[in-house]
Amino acid sequence: MLTKEEVIEILKSMEDPHLHKSIEETGGIREVKVDDTFVSLKIALGKTQTAEQMKLQQEIVQKVKQNGAESVGLRFEQLTDEELAALGGIPEEQGPSLLAEGSKTQFISVASGKGGVGKSTVSVNLALGLQRIGKKVGILDADIYGFSIPDMMGIENRPTVVDKRIQPVDRFGVKVISMGFFVEDNSPVIWRGPMLGKMLNQFFSEVDWGDLDYLILDLPPGTGDIAMDIQSMVPSGNELIVTTPHPTAAFVAARAGAMAIKTEHKLLGVIENMSYFKSDKTGEIAHIFGEGGGEKLSENLGTELLGQIPLNQPEEKDDVFAPGCYFEDESIGQLYTDVAKNVDAKLQ
Ligand SMILES: Nc1ncnc2c1ncn2[C@@H]1O[C@H](COP(=O)(O)OP(=O)(O)OP(=O)(O)O)[C@@H](O)[C@H]1O
Ligand SMILES: [Mg+2]
Repeated sequence: MLTKEEVIEILKSMEDPHLHKSIEETGGIREVKVDDTFVSLKIALGKTQTAEQMKLQQEIVQKVKQNGAESVGLRFEQLTDEELAALGGIPEEQGPSLLAEGSKTQFISVASGKGGVGKSTVSVNLALGLQRIGKKVGILDADIYGFSIPDMMGIENRPTVVDKRIQPVDRFGVKVISMGFFVEDNSPVIWRGPMLGKMLNQFFSEVDWGDLDYLILDLPPGTGDIAMDIQSMVPSGNELIVTTPHPTAAFVAARAGAMAIKTEHKLLGVIENMSYFKSDKTGEIAHIFGEGGGEKLSENLGTELLGQIPLNQPEEKDDVFAPGCYFEDESIGQLYTDVAKNVDAKLQ
């Protein structure tokens, strides 16, 4: 015959699915009554009415029956707030992370040898291009110190929090997260090693990115310590190198390529930005910043030149303010659509 002690022994091995502690430890074994082959139980959990509770319920009933009970009555209640507080509360549950195994999201980091060559511009417009060809895209502004994506896209709202997860800002169908959303009044941000890593990790695990095809990471400029640190923290994936057409610029950018290899990022190709200026009036092309850098760099790195983007400011629109975005009705916008197709084809 089943005894009360035996039933308690079974319950001791059960774990509170939300607190990840045994229900003995949480004080969750509230009531155990054994009347011949009828067992009546009351269990308290950190959270009730969950799928996890149902699973535990089946497990308990099965075990107790295996030990000789014919019928099991089981009721659940929630631990009191005081009890939960004493147990340190329910640990935050992490949603599906982009970094989780089996995630189908591909990462594309945009890097350069030096600053100001157009990484952020390329990040934004490649994202828009991929969105135009029907891909689900996010941008993570990993330039934690020099964030510029929100300004370039003309983003004025901030992320919201739903069910403890940060909802990225949607702009033109692209999901955006930037350090710029989390600082007030453009005040400079100084993050040091561990904080920096924590921040970036949160951008991956606590942001509800949904199911993305591509996440574009706008990296800080250069190949110095900070850039290197951040680069090694972002998940290994694919890297795009942005350069200007000047042959010496290509030389500097080669270091970024070397850094990509060191951090186990796969080189996807090179984008030459500010390649030339084409006059609207005469159609004449001027190579203001030199010529041949993109080609030379892709040769040196053994990769492909994925696009050459001329110099020109995005057209000003009456209805939207997004000073760094080229849309599909502009020739540079169409060039970015082509780059996006190129990139997408390479990653299929
Ligand atoms: N093809 C282009 N034609 C005209 N202006 C451009 C072009 N590409 C970029 N710019 C402008 O050049 C400046 C630098 O570009 P951007 O901020 O994208 O470079 P970056 O490499 O991200 O810079 P940083 O190293 O500071 O992060 C910006 O003002 C941008 O609007
Ligand atoms: Mg930038």
